Amino acid sequence: MKLVKTIKEVRDIIKQWKADGQTIGLVPTMGYLHEGHTSLIDESVKNNNKTVVSVFVNPIQFAPTEDLESYPRDIDHDSALCRDHGADLIFNPDPSEMYKDGFSTYVDMSVLTEELCGLSRPIHFRGVCTVVTKLFNIVTPDNAYFGEKDAQQLAVIKHMVRDLNMDIKVVGCPIVRETDGLAKSSRNTYLSSEERQAALILSKTLKLGKELISNGERNTGAIINAMTTNIETEPLAKIDYVKIVDSETMQPVNKIDRPVLCAMAVYIGKTRLIDNFSFKEA
Ligand code: PAJ
Repeated sequence: MKLVKTIKEVRDIIKQWKADGQTIGLVPTMGYLHEGHTSLIDESVKNNNKTVVSVFVNPIQFAPTEDLESYPRDIDHDSALCRDHGADLIFNPDPSEMYKDGFSTYVDMSVLTEELCGLSRPIHFRGVCTVVTKLFNIVTPDNAYFGEKDAQQLAVIKHMVRDLNMDIKVVGCPIVRETDGLAKSSRNTYLSSEERQAALILSKTLKLGKELISNGERNTGAIINAMTTNIETEPLAKIDYVKIVDSETMQPVNKIDRPVLCAMAVYIGKTRLIDNFSFKEA
């Protein structure tokens, strides 16, 4: 496995692989890899001849008030995990390699990015769409792997690929959780032990929402109320949003009469955590 830092090095390697008829999977990440990330790498290694993992903390998807500086980084640990899981190449550019002086072209999307995380993070998805487009252009993968943990991001990327006629298959992979239910996240490292315990309110509340739906509740207002009340029992939790939206358009629905995404963002202390589940009638 090789680690490269320049776009030219990636292109030279990809050119050779393509000349040899190899299929290519891409796993875009911001590093500090955990089992959520490695599940995507495993899926790519299983279904492609070559797997590229990008490790890049993308500055343009963070607002000035967010955690760009403190976002955890450990490229040695990431390289070891990628190697153990059979990846072939890590692309770990510096910000100046991705954003040259005078950079001024962005990929922006309306509608899908205006709800959920887009409301509290207004520039976030523009940054994500732009960097993912750049990575797609650099790596030119056949398949690209994204986690359902970031369900809105997955829907946005699928929609972007469709809108812009990108010849890439976007594959969604299930959420990987700790044994007690907390969704794995690089940001879990911010939690104190008391906060780590409090963070279980997210997965517990999703379980409650799922139970209400399986008991026949279809009124989203009633489900969201019950979930909100449940989160409010945890003193360290502060709700950013709890919403039920159409799985494709990400627009809120009043009644569950189509495939939906039930998603939440909750602050535990200063750390903002997200989690979700999808539901569609059997
Ligand atoms: P990052 O947060 O590092 O996540 C990289 C990929 O891993 C995303 O597709 C995310 O959904 C997936 N992932 C994270 N935790 C997961 C879990 N517990 N289970 C399953 N998959 C999980 O998402 C980003 O980086 C960035 O926005 C990026 C797409 C790389 C663009 O900068």
